[in-house]
Amino acid sequence: MSTLSGQPGSASSRVRKPGIALAAGDAHPQLAQDLARLCAATVVPTTVSAFADGETRVRIEPDVADADLYIVQPTSTPTNERLMTLALIADAARGAGAARITAVVPYFGYARQDVRKGAGEPRSARVAARLLASAGIDRIVVLELHSPALESAFDLPVVQLEADELMLPVVRAWGVADLAVVSPDAGGLKRAQRYASALAAPLAVVAKTRPRADVAVALQVLGDVRGRPCLIVDDMASTGGTLAEAARALLEAGAREVHALFVHAVMAPGALERISAASVRRIVTTDSVRVAPDPRIQVVPIAPLLARTLARLAGRPMEATDAQRS
Ligand code: R5P
Repeated sequence: MSTLSGQPGSASSRVRKPGIALAAGDAHPQLAQDLARLCAATVVPTTVSAFADGETRVRIEPDVADADLYIVQPTSTPTNERLMTLALIADAARGAGAARITAVVPYFGYARQDVRKGAGEPRSARVAARLLASAGIDRIVVLELHSPALESAFDLPVVQLEADELMLPVVRAWGVADLAVVSPDAGGLKRAQRYASALAAPLAVVAKTRPRADVAVALQVLGDVRGRPCLIVDDMASTGGTLAEAARALLEAGAREVHALFVHAVMAPGALERISAASVRRIVTTDSVRVAPDPRIQVVPIAPLLARTLARLAGRPMEATDAQRS
């Protein structure tokens, strides 16, 4: 059972109005706590548990009438449960009279089958988006959707954030000279291009194929990486196969060393080992999903970016203390 309640630092259960009210699902309570602290937001007590047969059971403090409510719940593993929990919290809040419900879903799962690529395939992203809309969510805040075009899966307003402003200072602080930025596949080219341009670095791309789901094979490096340190930039690591294959191909093509940056550490079992075994020197990611602490990974907090966004969305300026903390 997961419960998060009260004002930041207290057990109070009254929802303060007006202002931002946050409800945390069970996916990432720490992120919700960090966000509540930065936004000086009220936290609506929420309980997520399960019935004996496994159905998700949700309850929120009913005093959310007229609240501007933000539900924090990345739909990371286990994706089905996280998604359903988010929908149930939204429905509970809608039933209790929340004035506006924004889902804060820094990692949006079910994004890979975004279009019907062949007969017999679903449009998973659209199904997930419709579920959320039907539960009463008015708006969604996401960090780096798998593809920006995925926005069209939603009938709701979508606020899409990019992690660049959080990640670039970290990369610059490494002080690696002559860096080349690499997209590990054609799909990630635009993102890699942004980093290359911000770092004034050359761009390369790895031609990748997927012989079957969850298996990546790097075919060729397009671009000259000989003698250079390379930074692979991707939206997520799941099996870690894409990054490991890209790193291998880059080293074979003469890269001096390889670093990896990805926004969402979805990390299926064995992913970190796979990436590390490919001689990746540094790994940097965000806490858009819960990341188990590991000395091999540098984790950049996203709460400051989300806090600024929520403050903007809620139509009030950040307080000086909030800005200092971020
Ligand atoms: C493209 O497919 C994506 O941008 C990622 O490269 C991919 O989802 C990573 O998955 P994996 O770690 O399983 O290769």
